[in-house]
Amino acid sequence: MKVVHTIQELRDHLRGQNRASFVPTMGNLHEGHLALMKTARQHGDPVVASIFVNRLQFGPNEDFDRYPRTLQQDIEKLERARDVYVLFAPDEREMYPEPQKFRVQPPDDLGDILEGEFRPGFFGGVSTVVLKLLSCVQPRVAVFGKKDYQQLMIVRQMCRQFQLPVDIVAHETVRDVDGLALSSRNRYLSPEERAEAPTLYACLTDIKQRVAAGEHDLKALEQAAIDRLTPRGWQVDYLSVRRQRDLLRPEPAEVGAGEPLVVLAAAKLGATRLIDNLEL
Ligand code: PAF
Repeated sequence: MKVVHTIQELRDHLRGQNRASFVPTMGNLHEGHLALMKTARQHGDPVVASIFVNRLQFGPNEDFDRYPRTLQQDIEKLERARDVYVLFAPDEREMYPEPQKFRVQPPDDLGDILEGEFRPGFFGGVSTVVLKLLSCVQPRVAVFGKKDYQQLMIVRQMCRQFQLPVDIVAHETVRDVDGLALSSRNRYLSPEERAEAPTLYACLTDIKQRVAAGEHDLKALEQAAIDRLTPRGWQVDYLSVRRQRDLLRPEPAEVGAGEPLVVLAAAKLGATRLIDNLEL
């Protein structure tokens, strides 16, 4: 695997390739990321991964400074997995050599709801860096995890509306045996919090089963989940059943009538904020 830190080196390595498959990450790689890279390999060649902790997508009170930066261990994991041909690991000056004044502005009705409501500017920061990374790598395919469901939708729409010549492939969320979605932020959890963390997924699974069994009062189902989580120490930002196609609330008549739904949640356990979702 080649590790490159500049756009020029990246382009030199990719010259003449037009079937590259790309996985952007912020590093601190876990099995979930490695699964994305394995999938990327099925969709194109060579596989390019990036590691860049993107300041633009962190709010002023978020964990940009303490976000785990583990480049050496990440390189070792990628070397062992043998799926990636080029790792692009730019520093901040390479990605943002001057103040980034042109920004991608996601539409309000998708970018300012759910995660966007609790993390203002987050999806603008994500979209801007993803556009820049796609421009650097120029892949034919890019793979994104469904764990960041709203991010995946926004990236898809951005690529479609800017007519970027890239196919966005969605990858199922990779979970630990107890159901907890793999995330770099799981490492912040204390042993007690780690034991509690799968309850979030258990609540989503419960909603899925109850909707499948014919319970259609979504507000009641959401509230029951929040009431289960809160006394266990969770602070729920949102837990909401939405339409898969636009992440808006379904009309009552749409529930149980074939409209594909997804339940999305974000909640803090101690100081750690976890997100998860499940298609119903
Ligand atoms: O999902 C992530 O890790 C980040 O949001 C991404 C897509 C790499 C952009 O910084």
